[in-house]
Amino acid sequence: MPKWLDNAVFYEIYPQSFHDTNADGIGDFEGIIQKLDYIKMLGCNAIWINPCFESPFNDAGYDISDYYKVAPRYGTNDDLKRLLKEAHHRNIHVLFDLVPGHTSIEHPWFRESMKNEQNEYTHRYIWTDNTWEPPLGLSYLRGVSDRDGACGVNYYSTQPALNYGYANPTRPYMKSPDHPAALANRDEMKNIMRFWMDMGCDGFRVDMAATLIKNDPDRSENIKLWQEFREFFDKEYPDCAMISEWGEPQNAIAGGFHMDFLLHVGPAAYTSLFRSENPFFSKAGTGDISVFANQYSKFYNTVDGKGLICIPSGNHDMHRLRENRDIDDMKLCFVFLLTMPGSPFIYYGDEIGMKYLPHVKSKEKGYHRTGSRSPMQWDNTQNTGFSKADSGSLYIPIDPDENRPTVKDQLSDNNSLLKTVSDLIRMRLETPALQNCAGFRFVYAQENKYPLVYERSDGDNSYIIIINPANRQESCILDIELDGALQIYSVGGQIEIAGNKITAKPVSAAIFKVN
Ligand code: NOJ
Repeated sequence: MPKWLDNAVFYEIYPQSFHDTNADGIGDFEGIIQKLDYIKMLGCNAIWINPCFESPFNDAGYDISDYYKVAPRYGTNDDLKRLLKEAHHRNIHVLFDLVPGHTSIEHPWFRESMKNEQNEYTHRYIWTDNTWEPPLGLSYLRGVSDRDGACGVNYYSTQPALNYGYANPTRPYMKSPDHPAALANRDEMKNIMRFWMDMGCDGFRVDMAATLIKNDPDRSENIKLWQEFREFFDKEYPDCAMISEWGEPQNAIAGGFHMDFLLHVGPAAYTSLFRSENPFFSKAGTGDISVFANQYSKFYNTVDGKGLICIPSGNHDMHRLRENRDIDDMKLCFVFLLTMPGSPFIYYGDEIGMKYLPHVKSKEKGYHRTGSRSPMQWDNTQNTGFSKADSGSLYIPIDPDENRPTVKDQLSDNNSLLKTVSDLIRMRLETPALQNCAGFRFVYAQENKYPLVYERSDGDNSYIIIINPANRQESCILDIELDGALQIYSVGGQIEIAGNKITAKPVSAAIFKVN
C-alpha cells in the first residue's frame, strides 16, 4: 500500500461545480488551483477529481471520447499538469477518475467498431453476430451501425461496453478474457494510466470496477484482471493508489485494490447509516445500527491488513448527506466519518452542509443526481463566489435559499460545521490510532439500540468513540471499564461515563482516550 494512504483524507471535486475562473458558468482547473489552499486549510491532503476528459457529456463526463485529452471546458492538459504541481507543492495527492468499462458512442474506437468491414476495433466492444440477438444480460444498442449486430452498453445507451471478455462464454459472440481484442483493451487502459501517472497523478478511482468481464457471478475473472493491473502498478508506479467503485470490499481487495468504496447500491448496508427510510443517523432515533455493523464487520474481518474500506460522506451519485438533517446532525455524521478506519472521502460542499436541491433541472443526464451537483457556495457575492457568469448561464443554478451555508460565513463562526469538520480532520491527522489502518472494533452496536460505541487503537493508544444521534437520552453498559478515560473531543449534548456505564444526552458525540 502506498505509504501516503495511511493518513490520506480525501476531498471529492466535481469539477463542473467547484470554481469558475473564466466566467463561462462552469468550473475549471484554474478554479481548483485557486482553491487548493482552502482544501489544505480544511485539512484534506488528497483530492479525487471526477472525469475531466474529452467527452460529449451524455453522462457528465463518464462517457469519454478521448482518454488522453482533457475537456477544453476545464482547460488544457498543461493546465491539469499545473494543477498536479500546485497540489503536490501543498502535499496534496490527486486521484483521477478512470472509466475503463465503456467509452462514449462518439469515441473513434466505437465508430471504427460500428463498421461492416473488419478492423482493429471490430471486437473491442461487445457485439452480437446479428442485430436481432441481444447480448445476454446487458442493455444494448441496435440499428445504429452498418455492421449486423447489437452492441452491449454498461450504463446509458450512449456508453457502449468495452470488451474484456466473458468469464463463461456460452454463445459464439462471447469472447474469452484472453481474446486478443480483450487483451488489447487491457493494454490500452495501462497506456492511459501510464500517460496520466507520467504526468504526475497519484492514482485512480476506478469506475464500475466489478463489471469489466461479463457473466462472472463470483467475480473471480474480474478479480484476476485487477490483480494483473495491480502487478503493473506495483512494478511501474508503486506509489499510485487504486481505489475502486466496487461495493464488495472482500472482492475488490482480493483484486488488488488498495481501498474500496461502500456504495449506496449493492450489499454494503451503507444506506442504513444515512439514507434509508429510517437511517441510524437521525434525530428520530428509529434506525438499526446492527444492519451496518454486521455487514461492515464481515467486510472488515476479511480485508483487515490487506486493504481498506471507505465510507464516503456522499458523492455525485447520491442525495446529499444534509438531506433531512440539520447542522447538529451533520456534526455527528462527521464524528463517525472522520473516526472510522479507511480514508475518509468528503464530497465537496458537505463540509458546510450544502443541501440537496430537489427541483433543479437535470443536467448532462444527472437526473435526480443533479440536485447534489450544484455550484460550491463560497461566499455571499454574485453566484456565491462560484462564477462571474450571468446567473442564467451557470452549469447548474445556485441553491436559491438565502440562508444557504457558505464557506465564508462558516469560517468566521466557531460553532460552524466547517469548524467541526476541520477540527476532526486535524485530530485524525495528529492521532495515529484514529488513522486509516489503525485497529477497530465495535463495542456497542446493538439491534435497534442507541448509542453507537466503537474503539480505535494502535499499539500504544486506544480511543472510544460514542455517538448518539437520537433526540433522547440513551445509556448502555459496555464490556470494558472506562473509569479514568479522558474526554478529548465532544460535540452536542454531554456524555457521561461511570465505570462501564455510558449516558449520552440527546444528539451527542464524544471521543475518549482510554489509555
Ligand atoms: C458510476 C459513476 O459514479 C456515475 O456517475 C456514472 O454515471 C456511472 N458510473 C457510469 O459510468
